[in-house]
Formats: sequence, C-alpha cells, structure tokens
Amino acid sequence: MKPNDLPQTPWTMARRAERMNPSVIREILKVTEKPGIISFAGGLPSPRTFPVAEFEAACAQVLRDDPQGALQYAASEGYGPLRELVAAMLPWSVDPAQVLITTGSQQGLDLVAKILIDEGSRILVETPTYLGALQAFTPMEPAVESVASDDAGVDIADLAAKVGTGAGKARFLYVLPNFQNPTGRTMTEARRAALVAKAAELGLPLIEDNPYGDLWFDNAPALPLTARNPDGCIYLGSFSKVLAPGLRLGFIVAPKAMYPKLLQAKQAADLHSPGFNQRLVAEVMKDGFLDRHVPTIRAQYKTQRDAMLQALAQDMPAGVSWNTPDGGMFLWARLPEGMNAVDLLPHAVEKGVAFVPGAAFYADHADPRTMRLSFVTPSVEEIRRGVAALAATIREHQGGS
Ligand SMILES: Cc1ncc(COP(=O)(O)O)c(C=O)c1O
Repeated sequence: MKPNDLPQTPWTMARRAERMNPSVIREILKVTEKPGIISFAGGLPSPRTFPVAEFEAACAQVLRDDPQGALQYAASEGYGPLRELVAAMLPWSVDPAQVLITTGSQQGLDLVAKILIDEGSRILVETPTYLGALQAFTPMEPAVESVASDDAGVDIADLAAKVGTGAGKARFLYVLPNFQNPTGRTMTEARRAALVAKAAELGLPLIEDNPYGDLWFDNAPALPLTARNPDGCIYLGSFSKVLAPGLRLGFIVAPKAMYPKLLQAKQAADLHSPGFNQRLVAEVMKDGFLDRHVPTIRAQYKTQRDAMLQALAQDMPAGVSWNTPDGGMFLWARLPEGMNAVDLLPHAVEKGVAFVPGAAFYADHADPRTMRLSFVTPSVEEIRRGVAALAATIREHQGGS
C-alpha cells in the first residue's frame, strides 16, 4: 500500500497530496520536545526578541483608531500604510503598488509555485536549500534540480549549464543570498553581480528569499539581487524574524507584469492576510521602531553565535568542520569522514542535544555528513553544554557509525 492510500474510505488522494511529505524537521522537533533536550534543531526566533509591550500598546491603539476597519474583511493586496512602510524600508526604489502582503513569506513561496510551475517544469535551487521552499514547490510537480554552490553562493558556470532552453528551460532559480537557511552562508558582492548578469543574459527569473537579511552581525550584506534587476526578480520578505513569527506576515515585491497573477493566487488562497495583524505591524513600525529594535536582535544573536563558535572550537574532535555565519540564525557543520548525521541524531538526543541532519535540505545528492545548528534559542550556558554533549556523541561514534 502506498503511504497516502486510505484503506476502506471513499477518498481518493490527488497526486499532489501524494507528493506531500511530513516535514522532516517537524518530525525531528517532536523528538526534541522531550523535556531537558537542548535543541539546536529548531528554526524558531528567540522569544526574548519579541516586542511584547509594543504589541500590547499597538493592539489598544488599533482598536481605538478604527476597530471596525481592523476587524473587517480587507483588500487582498494588503493594508495600504503597511505596503508603504515596506516599500520605504527596502534599499531600492519600490512602488507600494508592487508590494503584496502575504501570510508569512511561506505563503509567498506557495503563490510563486502556483503561478510559475506546471507539472514537469524544471526549477533550480541552491545546494542545499530551504526545506520549506521544497515543500511549497513539490505539490506543483516540478522537476527540481540543485545548482552547485560554494561559500560565496551559486556556481555561475553550473547554473549556466543547467538553465536549458526551449520547453525544458528552467522556470526560475530560487535563491537565498543572506545568511541562508540552512547553511548561514552569504553570497558575496562579486557573486551577486555575476549571478544577476548571467540570469539576465539567460532570461532566467530569480526568486529571492530574504527573511534573515536584517540580522547581520558585523557588516550589512550587499544589495539584494532584486535591487539590481527588479524586473527579473520576485523578492520575498518576512516580519517573522524582525518582529514575531506568530503574526504570520510577510510580503512579496513583484515586477508589475507578475503582480496581477500573484494577487489572483493570493485571493484564491486566503482572500487577504489578517488585517488586524497588518495594522498592528504598521502601528508598531511607525516612527522607525525597527531601526531601534533590530540592532538588539543582532546583538543577542551575535553573542549566541560567538558562544557556539567558541564551544565548537573547544570541544569538537578533529575532522569536524563548521562555518562562521555573519548573521541569521544557523551554522552549518560537517562530521568527520564516514559519519552520517541521520544515524548520529538518536544518539545525540540520548545525550540531551538535538540538531537537524543536513540531508533534509538537499533537493538531490545530499551530503550525509552535514548538520544545521541553530544558535538563537538556547542560552549561552545551554549552547556550551549542548556542544559538549554533541562532541561527546561524535567521539563515541567516530569510526563506528
Ligand atoms: C528561508 C526561509 N524562507 C521562508 C521562511 C518562512 O517564513 P515566514 O513564513 O514565517 O515568513 C523561512 C522560515 O523559517 C525561511 O527560513
């Protein structure tokens, strides 16, 4: 029996439902919810960064100012003042009419998939890439192909080799230039310039996902790809990492030619994103709140990253390697030759620490030695203990896993 067949019921699953799989990450998170586990597995922002008092005040204000408007159905494009704030905060010239407020940037990925992917369409992603994007794209039945990527970003020669022509030409490249989920890496200025130039030359649209770009530690990342060629890119942004993910608010900046179809897909999906939440965010953001708030998140996450780097350097056995992300929430590590992160995970959980095996993030040709370590939710003390437990697990299983 195929996993999605339901015995003795009148239901027949759509093919796209058969292609939906439980998120590996969610399954892993269930294990890590055991009390006492130090989790480097979650992708959750630190709740200590949520501006609770500001939201409390904004709730009262929004309900005082226009309670009925705030609680009524609203425009599918989004709340006008919020679209204006979004356009104004981006580092290139954006017309608010190009901004579509979405129910998280995850919905942005779903809408992009709906309007750009037919069954069998080729689409290109980085190696590795965001698992949630693969989940959003897969039900539309694309042929997903990974483009080779290194610490500086997408390999331009491999991209050019894989774009294809005619009916088999890739519909887009999905790319995360800043503090990528899962690797934490950032695309260099040179690689961004080369990528945008090559994509324009090949007529390849780019889907740029940037939920972490504001969370830099020492240097702000280079300009987004979309700023360099706004007509060739769809840009996805999010309020989840700079305010709170429970708001479920993000946005798309789309070229004028693409906006109407995205809007129609949005109407079909949920009519509009929660109007009350949109007004809350507009109220909180007015007067430049993010300019004061985001640096506090950066400072906190940088301290956490430093604690993890220090603990890794101190505890990890030879043969384990990791990168030094300049921002965001994740660090990417690699086990010694011959080890496998999926096999290691249950042993790590036994010792009280969890991570996400990197294999979950590859569209193809997974590297079984990789793992994603989130440094933002545990305390500095927990980071130290968690890394020590992980290092001990690796030592015990080195050579034998
Ligand atoms: C790369 C990336 N894109 C999109 C999302 C979805 O974010 P949200 O829907 O909360 O805006 C996430 C969430 O972790 C992410 O890491």
